[in-house]
Amino acid sequence: MRQKIVAGNWKMNTTLSEGIDLVNQIVAKIEEVPQDVKLIVNTPFTHLFPVSKIIGDIKCPFCRSKISLGAQNCADKEKGAYTGEVSAKMLASVSKAVGTVAGAPEGAVGAPVEYVILGHSERRGYYGETNAILLEKIKLALSEGLKVIYCVGEALEERKAGNHFEVVANEIKEVLFNLSPEQMKNVVVAYEPIWAIGTGETATKEQAQEIHEFIRKTLAEKFGTLAEETSILYGGSCKPSNAKELFSQKDIDGGLIGGASLKAEDFIAIAKSY
Ligand code: PGA
Repeated sequence: MRQKIVAGNWKMNTTLSEGIDLVNQIVAKIEEVPQDVKLIVNTPFTHLFPVSKIIGDIKCPFCRSKISLGAQNCADKEKGAYTGEVSAKMLASVSKAVGTVAGAPEGAVGAPVEYVILGHSERRGYYGETNAILLEKIKLALSEGLKVIYCVGEALEERKAGNHFEVVANEIKEVLFNLSPEQMKNVVVAYEPIWAIGTGETATKEQAQEIHEFIRKTLAEKFGTLAEETSILYGGSCKPSNAKELFSQKDIDGGLIGGASLKAEDFIAIAKSY
């Protein structure tokens, strides 16, 4: 049974206090999320520590198990003189630090930074992240015990030219095919057509299902039946009004949500679309 996931990608939005408000609002509604759906909030780096504490403080174990914390990037180097970078090891260290806050109860541990988004088209496009760089990032993240949400997707011109299958296959083969099956178990794939991100334009359910099925088949070439267990999320203008029809497709296991994850009400409504 594949894990159903609704992951919020906050991108470079919210001040720290707005982010704390948003996560508190999400946590307040967590009981509404269906039992078999996992929520992930991928916040900016500055927000990880307080959000780790807020999620770690959720009292009901069942509610606690329904929400995970993630980051939106990590460095392709282990450590050292890389000004401005944040390493996978630093991300993995956040939850333990919660116990060191003044007044924290003995042994207090926050929610781990469990996921990291890598390969988002904004990182590929604006920051020149190549498949080779992304492979390094993924290996480092996995070696620190993080799970990876690996994004793939084609530009509008590539779809118009009918090259979308080839583009997506390359992004998978040049990166994920270098992982072992053990590593691949900790990878979630997100298909995000670039032309649908933040544009209000969504892939139709048929377009999305077609390429999700293709992604699963491609993964199966290397990983066999493990491909059946890999969650593949759809991203690109996913919102409460279209989530249900997208999530009803056989190979769509949830969503990576940008704009609509910044309103607790919309984010929870998307999770309830299952
Ligand atoms: P969007 O972004 O939902 O705002 O289109 C999705 C994403 O880029 O992850």
